[in-house]
Amino acid sequence: MNIIFTYFHHRFLSKMKLFETIRATREHIDFLTNQHLTIGFVPTMGALHQGHLSLVQRAVQENNRVAVSIFVNPIQFNNPSDLENYPRNLEADLKLLEPLLSDDDFIFAPTVTEMYPKAETRLFDFGSIAEVMEGRYRPGHFNGVGVVVNKLLRIVEPAAAYFGEKDFQQLAIIRQLATMEQLPVKIIPCPIIREPDGLAMSSRNVRLTPDHRQAAPLIFQTLLDAAKRTGTDSPDQLKQYIGATLNQTKLLEVEYVEFSDEVTLESVQNWTTSRNIRCFIAVQAGDVRLIDNIRISVPAK
Ligand code: PAF
Repeated sequence: MNIIFTYFHHRFLSKMKLFETIRATREHIDFLTNQHLTIGFVPTMGALHQGHLSLVQRAVQENNRVAVSIFVNPIQFNNPSDLENYPRNLEADLKLLEPLLSDDDFIFAPTVTEMYPKAETRLFDFGSIAEVMEGRYRPGHFNGVGVVVNKLLRIVEPAAAYFGEKDFQQLAIIRQLATMEQLPVKIIPCPIIREPDGLAMSSRNVRLTPDHRQAAPLIFQTLLDAAKRTGTDSPDQLKQYIGATLNQTKLLEVEYVEFSDEVTLESVQNWTTSRNIRCFIAVQAGDVRLIDNIRISVPAK
């Protein structure tokens, strides 16, 4: 059965389309493509924040119509309690999207059985970029991301899809997925949006206890400090500095910190190995796992 909802935020303003089924979504996409309208796509897992909204704003600027998916993808969670506690609030998400979207823009919010009518068996080989950092600490995560993004891109058939650089490694995986699957979509990276105190916006931030929330901005502050010391310290020295500074608080526990090439994601041993280096970090803050990254500019010798 096709279920099509039109969401009225209030009496006068725009009507947003909300589809739960692939069939209803496809019908609407056919209607748009018959008029030669391009679609910009923002895939999300909901619990939207300003970071997501910045992707939607960019998609609105650059495309004729915009699609946003809201789907908490169970197969990308390696930790069952993370899946269970992942924040979900469709009503609040719709309220945030309503002022940005116009009548023919739409939200696709499928159920798990709509996306996975049978158990998923597909295994992608993303090579070495999937084996380091998040790939190493979250087994199966990138395969789950690859499966769902591949399905979503095939359903929505967007001209462009927008992803935040907070999940920088995910962005590299999705670029590779689009190449491997020959998907005719432009993958557009968008900058990290931060809270005023520097904490990278994330849906998981709402789950931080007040103490962990207070400690969390130290992650970005320490990355900024480290980025200023590339003239005097080696990558290894800075990794130690970052680890020691953050672990000192007892509220934060560094899982990994790496200086890596932005394209290959291979770890660099000295500043001359690559021209495009980023520092990547994952930190456990109580029950919540946070990730962040920062571009490193190395002074010319
Ligand atoms: O970045 C996310 O929110 C998710 O990993 C994505 C890309 C929507 C796939 O579920």
